[in-house]
Parts: sequence; structure tokens; C-alpha cells
Amino acid sequence: MKVLHKVSDLKAELKAQRLANKSVGLVPTMGALHAGHASLVSRSLAENDVTVVSIFVNPTQFNDKNDLAKYPRTLENDCLLLENILNIFVDKELIAFAPTVEEVYPEPDTRQFSYPPTDEVMEGGFRPGHFNGVCQVVSKLFMMTEPDRAYFGEKDFQQIAVIRRMVEDQKFPLQICACPIVREEDGLALSSRNALLSPDERKIALNISQALFASQHYAKSHTLKETKQWVIDTINAVEGLEVQYYEIVDGNSLQSLNEWDDSDYVVGCITVFCGAIPVRLIDNIKYKSC
Ligand code: PAF
Repeated sequence: MKVLHKVSDLKAELKAQRLANKSVGLVPTMGALHAGHASLVSRSLAENDVTVVSIFVNPTQFNDKNDLAKYPRTLENDCLLLENILNIFVDKELIAFAPTVEEVYPEPDTRQFSYPPTDEVMEGGFRPGHFNGVCQVVSKLFMMTEPDRAYFGEKDFQQIAVIRRMVEDQKFPLQICACPIVREEDGLALSSRNALLSPDERKIALNISQALFASQHYAKSHTLKETKQWVIDTINAVEGLEVQYYEIVDGNSLQSLNEWDDSDYVVGCITVFCGAIPVRLIDNIKYKSC
């Protein structure tokens, strides 16, 4: 596996691969890789000749400086995890691309991306500028890598919807591949932020996915509004958890729904603060899939 830090090296390497007619998959990450990322990387390795995994904690998508400062950075371990996956795909190529902030942003990025209502609701409302930063970095990664396919995890359900809008708007000739949430055996959605939880908080956090799963059953005999309130109340009743929002939305537009029959694709998206020094955890559940 090659570990590259310079955009010029990445471009030179990919140019050679393209000349040899190789297909390229991109897995954008902020590092602190876990089994959820591993599933994206494995899928990309299976579907492409060359996979680029970018490892870059993107400052422009953090609206909270503390959050940026405490985001885990574990490049050495990340490379070990990638090497282990590559051992299963012996005939494939894997490049870890870990640039510095100066390399990605040689000058401030002043581009504005706006995709209402997709980028305005939920995370967009609580983290102003977040999706603009995501679009800035992801569009840069697309331009540096020119992938045939790019892989994103459905844990960040809204992020995928926003990126799809950006790909359409900017006419990037690539396919967005959305991959299912990977969960711990007990149901907790895998997240790099889980590393910030104490063992006790980790136990408490489990109530989030449990409430979401239980709500799929509850939804069978209750209205959408009752189900939404039930999830909020159930989670808020747990000491150490505080729901920031829970919205039941159309899976494409991300507009909030009032009735189950208002859409064929119904997803519940939640953000919860967990613990004394709160860790912001997100998760989602499908009530109806299309
Ligand atoms: O989902 C993430 O880890 C980040 O938002 C992404 C897509 C790598 C952009 O920094």
C-alpha cells in the first residue's frame, strides 16, 4: 500500500493507473478508521482496480473548534487496518492519501454550495456551514482523484443526500455508492466518535439504537407523530442522553413527514448528546425502504 501526502504525487500515481485503463474508487474519510470504514474500503476494492482512501480531518466542516480539536487522529493505526484489508484483495491496489490542511487548502476556500432544503434541515440547521465544508472538501477530493465511484456510509444519511445534490449540480462523472450502517454486535452504530465515550457512556449510548429498533415495532400500531415523540421521550428518559433532534423524513428530499403514507421511503434521523462532556452521536433507521 502506498501512503501519499501530496496532491501532485496522488495525481501522478492515478494518471499512470488511468493510462493502464484501471478503474478508481474513492473512500473519503476523516481517519480513526473502524469496521464501518472497512466495509466501504472492502466494497471499493471489490468493485475497482485501484482504491484511494483519503484520511483528512477537514477543518471547514467543523463549526465548533473544540469538536475539531478533539477529533481522533490515528494515522498509524488507520494504515495498519488498511494493510489488513488489502491482504484479502491481493490483486488490487490501495492508496492511503493523508494530506495536510495546507495541501488541501493552499488558500482559503470561499466557494459556497447551497442545496435547499436538503442541506438546511437537521444537521444543516444545528451545524451551520457544516455541509458547505463537506461539499468543499469532497469536491476537492473528487477533482484530485477523478474516481469512477465514491463510497459513503449511510450512518451519515443526510450527508449522502447533500453530496448527491452536489454531484448533480457540479456534473461530476461518477457514481455515488451508499453503504449500509455497520453496527456493533449489540446494535450501536459504529462511529469514530465512539472512541470518545467512557465505558459507562458506551453502555448508555446503546439506548439510542435500541429505541430506534423498538420504534420500528411501535410504528406498526402508532401514528408517525406518536412514534417520533415516543423515540424522543424514550431516549431522553435515560440519564446521560439528550436528544438534539429526531426527524422522520422522506429518504430522498429529507423533508419532515406528517403521516406514514406521505412517502414510500421513510427514514428516522437522530442526533443525541451522550455523557457529561457531551459526545454528539448520530444514527438513523428505515421505516420504509424504496
Ligand atoms: O463522513 C466523513 O467522514 C466526512 O464528512 C467526509 C465525507 C470524509 C468529508 O470530510
